[in-house]
Amino acid sequence: MNNNLIKLLSISQYYCFILSLFFIITSSKSTNPLSHNYSDALTKSLLYFEAQRSGHLPHNQRVTWRHHSGLTDGLEQGVDLIGGYYDAGDHVKFGLPMAFTVTMLSWSIIEYREYIARARELDHALEAIKWGTDYFIKAHTSPNVLWVEVGDGYTDHYCWQRPEDMTTSRQAYKVDENSPGSDVAGETAAAMAAASVVFRKINPRYSRLLLHHAQQLFEFADKYRGKYDENIEVVKNYYTSVSGYKDELLWAAMWLYKATENHRYLSYVIDNANEFGGTGWSITEFSWDVKYAGIQVLASQLLYEEKHLKHKNILEQYRSKAEYYICSCLRKNNGTKNNVVFTPGGLIFIRQWNNMQYASSGSFLTMVYSDLLHKSNRKMLKCHMEDVTPQELLQFSKHQVDYILGSNPLNMSYLVGFGPKFPTRVHHRGASIVSYRENNGFIGCTEGYDNWYASSDPNPNVVVGALVGGPNHNDEFADKRGNYMQTEACTYNIAPLVGIFAKLSYLENTIFHQSY
Ligand SMILES: *[C@@H]1O[C@H](CO)[C@@H](O)[C@H](O)[C@H]1NC(C)=O
Ligand SMILES: *[C@@H]1O[C@H](CO)[C@@H](O)[C@H](O)[C@H]1NC(C)=O
Repeated sequence: MNNNLIKLLSISQYYCFILSLFFIITSSKSTNPLSHNYSDALTKSLLYFEAQRSGHLPHNQRVTWRHHSGLTDGLEQGVDLIGGYYDAGDHVKFGLPMAFTVTMLSWSIIEYREYIARARELDHALEAIKWGTDYFIKAHTSPNVLWVEVGDGYTDHYCWQRPEDMTTSRQAYKVDENSPGSDVAGETAAAMAAASVVFRKINPRYSRLLLHHAQQLFEFADKYRGKYDENIEVVKNYYTSVSGYKDELLWAAMWLYKATENHRYLSYVIDNANEFGGTGWSITEFSWDVKYAGIQVLASQLLYEEKHLKHKNILEQYRSKAEYYICSCLRKNNGTKNNVVFTPGGLIFIRQWNNMQYASSGSFLTMVYSDLLHKSNRKMLKCHMEDVTPQELLQFSKHQVDYILGSNPLNMSYLVGFGPKFPTRVHHRGASIVSYRENNGFIGCTEGYDNWYASSDPNPNVVVGALVGGPNHNDEFADKRGNYMQTEACTYNIAPLVGIFAKLSYLENTIFHQSY
């Protein structure tokens, strides 16, 4: 059978699977809308990456309130670091979360590529990855040197300026043999390896280039071990790698194995499973810092291929931890401590500051696990409290997404620019100040605070597709620019949802349309 036929078959099998979900959903009663325009959400989420672009903007730039910026990044250090993404509402280019964003965008596309293509958004999704990977190529200036930050949180946050006017320090920071950073180098290797899979057929030359960088970066990360925040002081208080670098080393090896099928990488994942915590850590969080649940889900996928059965024992240990995570999201583990906390409205709640990242990463992993269960012969996930079906996992994932898009007590979409009600005072320097295209007069460091930050007016520019930090533990949300814990968006918040939106859109158009 050729691949297309297999795809078609799996889609038709999927149809049956979804039909049962359809009955679950239409039989539930709720005052909130049961579904949303996911294809609109998909389109918007990809626009957000254009709003976050640093560097020289191309002619086909669709977010037109932005302009070129950061054109001297790296100049002081004699390296071209123009490009990449601003992390959030500020203008620091933080390597660790930027790489995680690209890894998750890539993973999202690897899983749900056909749905993204059907929605005619594949080119935009590939561009979003490439804007990141082009930058990583520049930043990886020699085998054991990776530039991992431009600007710093302390001086950047002192000013409230558009990126086009930036007067803050653009000092660049690197990791190398003497000041290693296995976490950031490992994550960048993972991002480039995952992206190489995405580009394999469509741009083989670029894919090989990414793989070459990924392999070198992994060697560097593994050979010169250390936490990057111990060498780069300015990243402390912003993106300290609290979980250390062992998760990134396993994660990078796993992605390199997926990209190369070279057994050396699989052996690394198997041999270090215990020592690096891969089969030891039971955890209810998956984030830019803590990758274990993602590694465990990837390892679970390997179990379903015949050729990996010689590693059955270790892979099953990984899978049992993956299932701990998935069951914790469904609140089906024994004991409250082993389960995720939810807001009364039903959103995953991990912590006060930028909580939405956990809802989106949780929604992603449960959807991927639902697909995996569905494909395998195991039609049930055995949690401590009870068995869970793939349909229930899919429904859980959809509920998180629906909450995000407006099915919540405030009827607020936390995806900016989506639906009738969304945050209008997003903590975002560029969006909150008049567009550079409308007024290119210089706006100084503190002038922005006086004239724009303090204003109670909505932002003049809508940062469409940004996923903000979201509500507190009680579903409450204050749409204020100073409320950065809730109104700031980060690039990694939305990355995992790109594929999920595409898949829900497909399901919506094929099945759910009957419920309108
Ligand atoms: C969804 O949104 C798109 C715009 O992005 C629009 O063209 C389409 O008609 C919408 N679909 C529905 C079912 O409302
Ligand atoms: C949210 O929408 C529902 C259904 O339309 C409505 O009953 C409810 O009052 C709304 N809540 C808020 C806070 O706007």
